Amino acid sequence: MSRSSLLLLAALARFVAAIQPDASPAVAAPLRHLPWGQLNFLHTTDVHGWYGGHLQEPSFSADWGDYISLAEHLQRKADSEGVDLLLVDTGDRIEGNGLYDASEPKGRYTSSILKEQRIDLLSSGNHELYKQNSSERELFETVPAFHGKYIASNLDIYNPETGEIQPLAQRFKRFTTKNLGIRITAFGFLFDFTGNFNNTIVQRVQDTVNEQWFQEAIHTDEVDLFVIFGHVALHSPEYDLLHRAIRSVHWDVPIALFGGHSHIRDYRLYDYKAAGLQSGRYMETIGFMSVTGVSTPDDPQPPTRSPTWSRRYMDNNLFSFHHHTGTNETTFPTSHGLKVSNMITKARKNLHLSDVIGCTPRDMWVNRAPYGSDASIFTWLEDSVLPDQLAGSPRVAGKGKKALAITNTGAIRFDMFKGAFTQDTQYLVSPFTSGFKFIADVPLDDAKGVIELLNGGGQMMTTAEAHGLQSWMLAPPEQISPRPGRASVLPPVRSDQQVLRKPELIPGYTTLDEAGDDGDDTLHEALRFYSVPNCIQAPVGDWSLEDKKLPPVVDLVYGDFIEPWVMVALEYLGYKVAPDDVQLWMKGKMMTEMMTEWVAENWPPVDGKCT
Ligand SMILES: *[C@@H]1O[C@H](CO)[C@@H](O)[C@H](O)[C@H]1NC(C)=O
Ligand SMILES: *[C@@H]1O[C@H](CO)[C@@H](O)[C@H](O)[C@H]1NC(C)=O
Ligand SMILES: *[C@@H]1O[C@H](CO)[C@@H](O)[C@H](O)[C@H]1NC(C)=O
Repeated sequence: MSRSSLLLLAALARFVAAIQPDASPAVAAPLRHLPWGQLNFLHTTDVHGWYGGHLQEPSFSADWGDYISLAEHLQRKADSEGVDLLLVDTGDRIEGNGLYDASEPKGRYTSSILKEQRIDLLSSGNHELYKQNSSERELFETVPAFHGKYIASNLDIYNPETGEIQPLAQRFKRFTTKNLGIRITAFGFLFDFTGNFNNTIVQRVQDTVNEQWFQEAIHTDEVDLFVIFGHVALHSPEYDLLHRAIRSVHWDVPIALFGGHSHIRDYRLYDYKAAGLQSGRYMETIGFMSVTGVSTPDDPQPPTRSPTWSRRYMDNNLFSFHHHTGTNETTFPTSHGLKVSNMITKARKNLHLSDVIGCTPRDMWVNRAPYGSDASIFTWLEDSVLPDQLAGSPRVAGKGKKALAITNTGAIRFDMFKGAFTQDTQYLVSPFTSGFKFIADVPLDDAKGVIELLNGGGQMMTTAEAHGLQSWMLAPPEQISPRPGRASVLPPVRSDQQVLRKPELIPGYTTLDEAGDDGDDTLHEALRFYSVPNCIQAPVGDWSLEDKKLPPVVDLVYGDFIEPWVMVALEYLGYKVAPDDVQLWMKGKMMTEMMTEWVAENWPPVDGKCT
């Protein structure tokens, strides 16, 4: 064979394998099968723009095109066995990945990539609603693309074309499944979110259930199963309420719930006829849930019969997908899946997402290393990035002031891996566009007191919560609601304990949920997760204190996002802030920019590469 045809073959092999060209291929691992039933669901949530998959992590390296191929194979299997398959997505599809955040306008590529997948039920998350632009993109692009499938049970939007407030999408949906004729009534919710921009209106779930349309929708006999899906954690008052609302009308109709928001793998049995699944975050997990023993008009079941529920969390990689579809590298990718993988490659190229900015010398973790250790990303921010970068202010550089700078840990969304820090990495780690503000010359004790209050809980945080400033909003979403029995979240202390390594298993999720510890498709060595404080604080300026004297006053610098909490804390400390006291620090330069500049200066690549 000629050299050029060999090269062509190699290129084809690369192409047919799908995943992104720069991604690390999956690693073989022991797997559990998918527990098929009569009605089966695939579930994604909190994708946050990760349609390209995780290029640096083999366990999660499949992309949205591969998910399309997966769904096609599983639908074919469902059809050949006469059972049903539905695809669900529960929001927060945007913000958190260069594929979304790096384009102008944001989302220019991800909108069209998303809609290539057939999704049967989808809803909005809170992230779609922070900016007017992004909620209007839902209204004008995503809702029409998924007409009749996008559900907004408790969400309205101001339509700039009509000047009217309208439901973002239809309130609910009734439909009958293709193969078994199961009659479904579905609702799509968002938790009681209050941080949205003022062009959308989120109705509290407790108010929605009293609406006439909702009561009429659940008072029907033409239903075999309810689906409650949405951007709501499974263990939340909102879902408890919805479960009770349906049970007060139907004691025996099965309910399938799908949740999101808190970025965890989770499963919950609300009663023996109601089960819920939550499928993690960032395209790490494709969730699978099935139910057997649902009544249909053709196949009535005794009302006392308990249906059988099962769940599985698939690691998003080709080794898993080949296994679950009985295919291999050649037979797995479908032409549609390949087309979409290719769209993603082109978009990543146009956005220069693989361009190398610097070379990270070690892994740095959000939750996988104790706060305070060298492997904690927060330690790096506190010790290096923030002191170096924030000292660029004329207050410090020119006037020699000292400052204390506070930011919340939730501002950091993802780990940094040893190796290339690319254009993409900056958005994965910190997608937010906010900068810093400051109050000049605050007495040292008051300035120091703020972080203690923000991290300490107590009366001040209770006061803040009464104003809608929940403490979970400050920390990473994974800490929102550690579910009962989730033993892996440990307090933020240093730990020297070593995890025993079984050599044949690679580290990954080992989920313990209400059905036990056999939910993950891939058998992994357990990872340990450590909780982190709400906020961190960096000293800025010369704090060497060679004169052994503490400064009487310092500038109090804080991330824009936490301003409301800082104000409540200062009030609590008895420090009065006048509106004019608040100014931008370094013209509001964004934290993402600071991090990126720091990496470029301190860890530069050689010839655009990392060795
Ligand atoms: C909103 O979108 C428009 C056009 O698509 C763009 O010019 C503008 O910068 C966007 N605004 C924000 C705040 O993203
Ligand atoms: C919504 O917020 C914008 C920008 O902050 C403001 O200009 C506008 O008046 C607000 N609209 C309403 C209805 O409050
Ligand atoms: C993949 O499966 C097909 C059909 O079973 C088979 O013909 C082919 O040889 C397999 N390819 C690889 C690379 O294993």
